[in-house]
Amino acid sequence: VDESGTRVFDLRMQRGTHDLGHGPDTRTWGVNGDYLGPTLRATRGEQVRVNVTNNVGERSTLHWHGMHLPAAMDGGPHQTIESGATWSPHWTIDQPAATLWYHPHLHGSTAEHVYRGLAGMFLLDDPATPALPDDYGIDDIPLIVQDKKFDDDQLDEDGEMFADVGTLGDEILVNGTPRPFLDVHTERVRLRLLNASNARVYNFSFDTGLAFALIGTDGGLLERPMTLRSVQLSPGERAEIVVEVPAGGRTVLRSTPPDLRADFWQTRFSGGDDRFDVLELRAAPTLASTAQVPGQLAAFEDLGEATVTRHLDLTGASTINGRSMDMARVDEVVVAGTTELWQIRNVSGLIHNFHVHDAQFRIVDITGMPPGHPGLAGRKDTVYVPPGATVQLLMRFEDHTDPSVPYMYHCHLLRHEDDGMMGQFVVV
Ligand code: C2O
Ligand code: CU
Ligand code: CU
Repeated sequence: VDESGTRVFDLRMQRGTHDLGHGPDTRTWGVNGDYLGPTLRATRGEQVRVNVTNNVGERSTLHWHGMHLPAAMDGGPHQTIESGATWSPHWTIDQPAATLWYHPHLHGSTAEHVYRGLAGMFLLDDPATPALPDDYGIDDIPLIVQDKKFDDDQLDEDGEMFADVGTLGDEILVNGTPRPFLDVHTERVRLRLLNASNARVYNFSFDTGLAFALIGTDGGLLERPMTLRSVQLSPGERAEIVVEVPAGGRTVLRSTPPDLRADFWQTRFSGGDDRFDVLELRAAPTLASTAQVPGQLAAFEDLGEATVTRHLDLTGASTINGRSMDMARVDEVVVAGTTELWQIRNVSGLIHNFHVHDAQFRIVDITGMPPGHPGLAGRKDTVYVPPGATVQLLMRFEDHTDPSVPYMYHCHLLRHEDDGMMGQFVVV
């Protein structure tokens, strides 16, 4: 924190080598290190500034996924950082406690830059949060889940042969670590799951059938915890869960075949049949006691009735409404202070998801999913859109008007995004 009270972070995007399970010579990218980046943390109401220096040797950007902030600070494709340059966005944290993240967003190169290792978590705190496990690294654990494939000892960036999803890996890394385990010393642990993979959808559960409490999704805590045995996350989505591993017990967090709601061929070649072990939890013989998860977690503001409806069709593997991303074209103009309904239809037959910058939306409905489905809960910025489905999103852009700098909406399967499945909107 500097003299003016601003919380300052210094980040350096750089190249290195890192052992991802295939020896020490794997070429990787990282932030302030060889692979991934530090967890940033700030509190609601606080002013932050991030000095981002780009030392990767080529142009990039750094985007704050899930953050409510001015478009010029967003780190999207227009806020490029030339090789060797430093970019210093600043804003005020103005949203509830949440598990957000950061990653590059250079148009056409996002998939490569993220896959090589540029990503990290950005945790937001809020004094109004009820008591939850919050001892970082002890009972509050960030889990950045990624799939990788290797060609000998180097990362293999090739896309899949029979599907248009981009790169799917056959090995899992958690926080850059292969075959990870976690020693548990408390009755309850909070796991902050982030799907930071380029294309893979995970369906997380425990091999022992353990139930857990889902307490938060992309944009913060739920109103009330939900007891679940599995939670599905598409690329970019987050879930916060609280688990009780019995003293002396072991359980493996794994991913079983996700429900992609796609046809046989797409399911198979988009990773829909795959299973992985993700993280082993090893509980000590005696565990420190922790408080129960509160029954009431957060209060949601009423977004009101939508007065504007937008129709966005996911068409093919690289277009929205039949058009490919154009940096010079503004696709949608949003008037601040208006509640909007965005109808996203996946008419492509392929798997996609949908992410909107700046706002957290509420999912009103996904065709074919029962109301009350956990995938619909909470403040969300990214949602899986099954082939053939229509997803209805309610959202409001309150402030940060800027007619000259757009925000993005896009599919978060990074190959699709790079290929043009992205659009731009301004808030005026
Ligand atoms: Cu996580 Cu526009 O991105
Ligand atoms: Cu984003
Ligand atoms: Cu897509």
